Amino acid sequence: MQQPAALELIDESARFFSAPDGDPLEALEKAHLTQLTLCDMLEQIADSIPGQIDRQTCARLAERLLPLLRDIHSFEEEILYPQALESPGTAPDIETTIMRLRFEHCEDECFAEELADALHELGTGKAPGNPEATGYMLRGFFEAMRRHIAFEHEHLVRLLRASATEGQHGLVTG
Ligand SMILES: [Fe+2]
Repeated sequence: MQQPAALELIDESARFFSAPDGDPLEALEKAHLTQLTLCDMLEQIADSIPGQIDRQTCARLAERLLPLLRDIHSFEEEILYPQALESPGTAPDIETTIMRLRFEHCEDECFAEELADALHELGTGKAPGNPEATGYMLRGFFEAMRRHIAFEHEHLVRLLRASATEGQHGLVTG
């Protein structure tokens, strides 16, 4: 995705997830697309350090990162996970799966706080004190997030999709 379209998606998702509505499964797919886009942008930033940093993008992401993640996590934890737990045909280990996902959200939010500070610094034009450490931090974050999304997709999207198709459990909240 091109940079302007990626930033537009991040902004639009920030608005959407501040008060999510509609079909939760569609919203989850939007959450995953948004987070994967965010990962790609963070990867580009990591690749651009130290010489070719797009300061404006760093500043925008520094501002968006934590509130957007918190809103997406709240949506998943308050709306989606309870539905997964109640879905017919739920795997016996779903509770362990959801515990793991919640724990990863917690870890990601802690990490995102540090990352937002680093992005803010990059956005102000200050050369990173330790470019390697900043790059390492960025990579650690987006790699963990990609793994989380793959796991969530594998364990939840299929389950909720099957449940919606069977029509045994309403997924529409509104
Ligand atoms: Fe998640």
